[in-house]
Amino acid sequence: MVKIAWGITGCGDKIEEIADLMIDLKRQYNLNVDIFVSKNAVLVLKWYKLWDKLKDEFYDLRTEVNANAPFIVGPLQTGHYDLFLVAPVTANSTAKIANGIADTLLTNAVAQAAKARVPIYLYPPDNKPGELVTILPGGKKLTLYIRDVDVENVNKIRRMDSITVLDNVQDIRKAIEKIAKNPP
Ligand SMILES: Cc1cc2nc3c(=O)[nH]c(=O)nc-3n(C[C@H](O)[C@H](O)[C@H](O)COP(=O)(O)O)c2cc1C
Repeated sequence: MVKIAWGITGCGDKIEEIADLMIDLKRQYNLNVDIFVSKNAVLVLKWYKLWDKLKDEFYDLRTEVNANAPFIVGPLQTGHYDLFLVAPVTANSTAKIANGIADTLLTNAVAQAAKARVPIYLYPPDNKPGELVTILPGGKKLTLYIRDVDVENVNKIRRMDSITVLDNVQDIRKAIEKIAKNPP
């Protein structure tokens, strides 16, 4: 059974699509998924009414206490997981990762996994210049204009060893299917 550590940050953009994808992939490939959520992701998932939906499917959502708790670094560095992915990644966590900051559960997990050369997949929705239409909690649409600084941070991460930046939700599916169809 493929074992995945899936981090979720406090990003509303694409969160509904991603939650549906997680459930779909888990059922289709019988994946064993441990979910790690940032403190702000708890709030965002509750606003979008996804907290209970994910709990019903995955039972245990492990919530950030601080950068080292719950302890994810050890299992990541010692090969407990076949895949480590953070999706979606906020502009905030993206900026921290781009600048080597590791003061939250998921930015620390990325930093320490990279140091151990563990492959990491990140999906930051603010990854190219221009407009995007996001869905607000409750279903209304809002147009956002992606800031240059956020795109620059993503591009900085693209150049980092061990990290693959995924550009869209479909790329998350492809990354997981690649390993699910050929388990190690
Ligand atoms: C309902 C809601 C939706 C949000 N959506 C986004 C988003 O799409 N992208 C983003 O970068 N930040 C978004 N934020 C702001 C982040 O949650 C905030 O920057 C937070 O500090 C991120 O912390 P984290 O990166 O540790 O999860 C949202 C906040 C709320 C309350």
